[in-house]
Amino acid sequence: MLNTIVSRRSALKAGLSFSLAASMPVRSLLAAPKKTEFLLRAEPARVALAGKAHPNTSVWSYNGQVPGPEIRARQGERLKFIVENRLDEETTVHSHGLRMPNAMDGVPHVTQKPIMPGETFTYEFDVPDAGAYWYHPHSNSAEQIGRGLSGPMIVEEREPIEVDRDITWVLDDWRLTSNAAISDDFGNRMDAGMAGRLGNTVTINGRVPDAFQVRAGERIRLRLINTTNARIFGLDFGGHRPRIIAYDGQPVEPHEPPGGRIVLGPAMRVDLVIDMTNEPKNSFPVVDRFYPSQTYKLIDVVYSDKPPLRNSPLTSSIRLPVNTMPEPGIERALRHEIAFRGGMMSGMSGGMMGGGGMMGGMMGRMMSGKGMWTINGVAFEGPVMEPLLKLERGRSHVLTLRNETAWYHPIHLHGHSFRVIARNGRKTRYREWQDTVLIAPREAADIAFVADNPGDWMFHCHIAEHLAAGMMGIVRVS
Ligand code: C2O
Ligand code: CU
Repeated sequence: MLNTIVSRRSALKAGLSFSLAASMPVRSLLAAPKKTEFLLRAEPARVALAGKAHPNTSVWSYNGQVPGPEIRARQGERLKFIVENRLDEETTVHSHGLRMPNAMDGVPHVTQKPIMPGETFTYEFDVPDAGAYWYHPHSNSAEQIGRGLSGPMIVEEREPIEVDRDITWVLDDWRLTSNAAISDDFGNRMDAGMAGRLGNTVTINGRVPDAFQVRAGERIRLRLINTTNARIFGLDFGGHRPRIIAYDGQPVEPHEPPGGRIVLGPAMRVDLVIDMTNEPKNSFPVVDRFYPSQTYKLIDVVYSDKPPLRNSPLTSSIRLPVNTMPEPGIERALRHEIAFRGGMMSGMSGGMMGGGGMMGGMMGRMMSGKGMWTINGVAFEGPVMEPLLKLERGRSHVLTLRNETAWYHPIHLHGHSFRVIARNGRKTRYREWQDTVLIAPREAADIAFVADNPGDWMFHCHIAEHLAAGMMGIVRVS
């Protein structure tokens, strides 16, 4: 096992320098005329995750690359992608965060039959909302995502804001052995009962990053997508004042991140606008400070020696046009309580590997391999299950999500976006639309939405190991 991200990164420092632009996902096109058709082949591949100084890593990929190819469409278009399964096990593809008909949602045994090895499946639907989304399997998710199956999905606004560059960083986290192989301890019960599978190697767009080249004066739109199994990021762009313009693809009133850090749990996205206001030739580290005992430098922002592109920052608006979700009526909404319980006890709310005490009862469950996490008292076990919540279609609903555990959970609902209207009973300032809400230990979050999309929708923690250990259920809208 590699020691820490930090030592690994300094080891890599010596030989390697590349521009991230060069590792941006490449658009994959079928020969068909429609530019919004894509082919995704789920297949094993070997990639240079950790850089030239290390052996290539065997991964599971889409089209031989990690992350998978960028799927890019324009708001209102029809998106079609064909998935070909060249793995040895069944799979599906879920388009995370997009609102679509239930049958296209990619959940095995719930919305479709799994795609067996050698089979193909075609996903096709209209994309109602602009934003940053991503795709990933919903079969054996912890291992399939953990071995590399995921990719970015960008839906462009009809009238985008003015920026010099629109860049996507797919953030991933890998647990590698000393020869850069993926550690095969999937299903590790310690991960399941604690913080999930935290890795030791963080990549941006599939490479251990070194430098992000910028030019003084430019305005960059940076879309961050967290495709990790379990790692939460708390990014500090020292020397810059990024503004958040979208959470989970959905426009929000532009604002600087509370506490100066951009916090991003698994599956979450944030769109930033950053004006490169410093002088040529300077360099600034981007530091991840989420886990206090384990801060590390993610990447350096490096200014070229070119003269500034402009003398003062652009003044055009960075407010994104609104998307198409119906506005929930809070007053007359139906109210529901959801409690999340389980996991190992720990005094450490940061949830780091190796920390935390083990309690007796939990130990028994860990050994038996039974569900360690519950939603309203039920651990998800079989593929087919009674809904944990039935929502009347067309009505507004407020769900109070209570995290009664000692760990963070990014809670995701399929098929809808919701407003986060309160935390611990206090109104949120931006009433942000999200599809995945990060809830701190012992915290409660109120989410509100109109249940306008009929079907059985998965509702789960997006820490893949928690999901696999029971933290999932079905919300039925009918
Ligand atoms: Cu990213 Cu069930 O989803
Ligand atoms: Cu969780």
